[in-house]
Amino acid sequence: METILKETTYITFMNLSLRSISLIGISLALVTIVGCAKEGCTDSIASNYDKDTNKDNGTCNYIQGCLEPTSINFDSSATIDDGSCMTFTTWEDWILEITKTGIDTNLGVAHIGGDSTSTRDVYFFEGQDPTDGKYPEGTMIFKHIRTIDSTNSEYVGMVKKEKGYSNASNNWEWFVLNADGTIKSDVEGPIRGATIYDGYCNGCHVSAATDMVFSK
Ligand code: HEC
Repeated sequence: METILKETTYITFMNLSLRSISLIGISLALVTIVGCAKEGCTDSIASNYDKDTNKDNGTCNYIQGCLEPTSINFDSSATIDDGSCMTFTTWEDWILEITKTGIDTNLGVAHIGGDSTSTRDVYFFEGQDPTDGKYPEGTMIFKHIRTIDSTNSEYVGMVKKEKGYSNASNNWEWFVLNADGTIKSDVEGPIRGATIYDGYCNGCHVSAATDMVFSK
């Protein structure tokens, strides 16, 4: 009788120990699986990429913008191209709005307006028009000026930027360009901005009838 009891106790004890060992094993396995699966954004081009995550939970954020470095609105922080790239390089295919020639005393020396042999062409991208006296965001205007013997020429442009860009320029950005429509540079870099040449462009264009634009 005594032996039987002893044996039963022993078997029960063995069973219990085996069970706890397997329980510890399962718990360890679970900790390993759950502990390693840190959720987050696993896409390295996303702005919130987390290198410590290994399970994507669909929270990746992407900065949309223009990815073409030669574009006037190239966005170096963007990771997805949203088709918004703008460029002056196609200006010869735009709509020619006006051609002016000769001396214009209002111009003084600006736009080679003091030369009797000058010709000044103004092009609008896709013929953009103003609405209620304001040009829409994204309007691009290009001006080509040259003298009859081509000894002097000038290429300039303006682009309507987003609201809040600059009060001084009615949200226009001014550009000094090369013949191929790329942006000209001087020692300070590309010649572009709301107040280039200390506001020289704004100072005269502010007297234009429609939203700083003379030609349309
Ligand atoms: C002294 C006045 C004056 C200054 C300074 C001036 N512009 Fe103009 N701009 C004009 C006039 C006037 C026109 C209209 C076309 C013409 O008469 O040749 C014009 C036309 C333009 C156009 C075509 C759109 C429009 O308004 O008709 C662009 C683009 C342009 N200018 C860019 C510039 C840039 C960039 C600067 C500065 C670097 C500048 N302008 C400085 C007077 C000026």
